[in-house]
Amino acid sequence: MEFAEIDQALTNPAFFVNHDPHPLWRELRERDPVHWTQGRVRPFWSVTRYEDIVTVFSQPNLFTSTKGLVVPSSPEMEQVTPEMMGSGQMMIMTDPPLHVAMRRAFNRLFLPRPVGRYESPGSALVNEILGEALERQYCDFVVDVAARLPMAFICEIMGIPRADWPLMFKWGNMALGNEDPEYQTESRSPLETRQQGSTNLGSYCARLALERRGGDGDDLLSVLGNARVNDRELTQTELMHNGFLYIVGGLETTRNAISGGLLAFINHPDEWTRLANDRSLLPSAIEEILRWTSPITHIARTALADTILADTKIQCGQQVALWLPSANRDEAIFEQPYRFDIARTPNEHIAFGKGEHFCAGAHLARLELRLMFEAILTRVDKFELVGAVERLQSNLVAGIKHMPVRLTPARHAA
Ligand code: HEM
Repeated sequence: MEFAEIDQALTNPAFFVNHDPHPLWRELRERDPVHWTQGRVRPFWSVTRYEDIVTVFSQPNLFTSTKGLVVPSSPEMEQVTPEMMGSGQMMIMTDPPLHVAMRRAFNRLFLPRPVGRYESPGSALVNEILGEALERQYCDFVVDVAARLPMAFICEIMGIPRADWPLMFKWGNMALGNEDPEYQTESRSPLETRQQGSTNLGSYCARLALERRGGDGDDLLSVLGNARVNDRELTQTELMHNGFLYIVGGLETTRNAISGGLLAFINHPDEWTRLANDRSLLPSAIEEILRWTSPITHIARTALADTILADTKIQCGQQVALWLPSANRDEAIFEQPYRFDIARTPNEHIAFGKGEHFCAGAHLARLELRLMFEAILTRVDKFELVGAVERLQSNLVAGIKHMPVRLTPARHAA
């Protein structure tokens, strides 16, 4: 395949709806692992090998997060400046030392011990959600199950009233799925859709965080409201950006790991039987689901100085796109990378990123996946695909929008 064709495909969100991008990444890993890519707006470097991606992640002061985390998909989206997206204000768009201070101030609810406390309420949520789908037997596994769980978890942790959860879902879809016609506003503009979704979500979070400031609440919006970074409280704009970050970080990614995980088992029934016969494989199965689904397709950085990456000269100011699913299929790291193997050990996937910005919600995401697949193992006898899988139009999130599934309840559980 010509490089021009590869460039066109990888930078076109619509390509990801009906095509498997893995052959393209494989070709880039083999032929041009740090590849100058003709983007839709401007050129950038595509980095596809695991080791090179880790090298970029491990130098946050050389490859900054402050200049944007995605490659622009259209000239229209280029109008969203890094400042509008929260550069220097939203934790994920800061570099050390500010990043270290923010993470310390915001993230205590997501450390292993607090996350352990969500086990029992989380298990009740999973059973409620799965129970409703089982009653109907036919469900859209994404909308009815996979999307509801992360929303319920993050909204509980943030202290968002239950009546408002559907709004969070709608605005989250608009902000991250803005290239997809299903989530767009009437204007059909990805820019307007993104702006409306993120402003609504952010303003909602900031309002509640400010109301809770000074109180002793132990929900995340209280934590943000009371947080002090460099000896001062967060401004309203900082509250908007960071509330938004925790909501969308929690919603889209985990949803796609859950639905992509079930789809992987549908396509590899022997691996499901293997897990059902030996549940001690669940932890390694979850890591394999994360490697296999790699819910974040790319994340970008910008070079702050001229540098060399894998013998390639990167100039100051140039953007590098890190294709995480490609790293997670890199033959130099993973044995038989195209095999879905629930007992894979070692499995040092980088679906959660690596280094400074390693996913703040990783413990929570793993808990959600474990509770969901434990519940399916216990309560579902059989699951079958009964219609087409519809994928999200995006080269940022490896998303499934709809997945019609028939669930047969386990006899003892029914
Ligand atoms: C399977 C599920 C998930 C995946 C695949 C995932 C993936 C990622 C990745 C790749 C990054 C690194 C971004 C970068 O380097 O610029 C990240 C950061 C982050 N994630 Fe997740 N994530 C998941 C679940 C969650 C959940 C449940 C939350 C909710 C709390 C969350 C919140 C965050 C936050 C706040 C950051 C920014 C961390 C920082 O800047 O220090 N994520 N995630």
